[in-house]
Amino acid sequence: MRVIIEPNYERLSEWAANYVVNKINAANPTPEHPFILGLPTGSSPIGMYKGLIKAYEEGRVSFKNVVTFNMDEYVGLPEDHPESYHSFMRENLFAHIDCPKENIHILNGNAENLLEECARYEQQILAAGGIDLFIGGIGPDGHIAFNEPGSSLSSRTRIKTLTTDTRVANSRFFGGNPDNVPAQALTVGVGTVMSAKEVLILCNGHNKSRALQAAVEGPVTQMWTISSLQLHPHGIIVCDEAACEEIKHGTYRFFKDVERDNL
Ligand code: GLP
Repeated sequence: MRVIIEPNYERLSEWAANYVVNKINAANPTPEHPFILGLPTGSSPIGMYKGLIKAYEEGRVSFKNVVTFNMDEYVGLPEDHPESYHSFMRENLFAHIDCPKENIHILNGNAENLLEECARYEQQILAAGGIDLFIGGIGPDGHIAFNEPGSSLSSRTRIKTLTTDTRVANSRFFGGNPDNVPAQALTVGVGTVMSAKEVLILCNGHNKSRALQAAVEGPVTQMWTISSLQLHPHGIIVCDEAACEEIKHGTYRFFKDVERDNL
């Protein structure tokens, strides 16, 4: 696992945006061989999305031949609700770039048959040839997508019930009341994310420091689903100084040293 430590959120976002731009350009995607990108929601990726929009506007990248799969969506929230992940993605990325509508995939949390919707999503990923780069955030409880503590580390796309922790954390988007946060979500599984060729996790802020510590120094455990990244051959975490509060000084120094020449 690579751990990139940036001084602050702005630099972390810039690093992540550049990384994605370089990956897309290096793949030289075509309609026949598009670049398959897994995308997160939440506050963590907003800075990176701004960087991607800027890169597009400056002509440094095109999303014409990029196919996207989002990580998750709430169950039962209307698609046009301001806090749905459909709305989030439109506002924070898709409305500002040239990614064709038909290339964008987001789980439908209002599907008549939610189980079928999840199976269909896995099929679509498979049919696309798998995900080249899956980008994710982490919840304060170490969840990746909506794979809450206790999720199977080999899970695939399915329905999950959200923990109180997550509903409290996300209540800031729902008028501060955890009861307004949908109780369930559709989410790609830990196994779905880990099947990607590469996984890039964004982790910023003091409230993520316990999750970062568990991800980097702890054992692989279903109680911190992000820890499964330790088993991935190409896992990267890009974090800021504030998120490093709980990792050992030696761990911090080690990653700073090994990454010095890569920056
Ligand atoms: C949400 C999302 C996750 C996200 C996490 C962190 O619950 N389902 O995919 O990584 O919360 O959110 P934030 O980036 O706002 O801290």
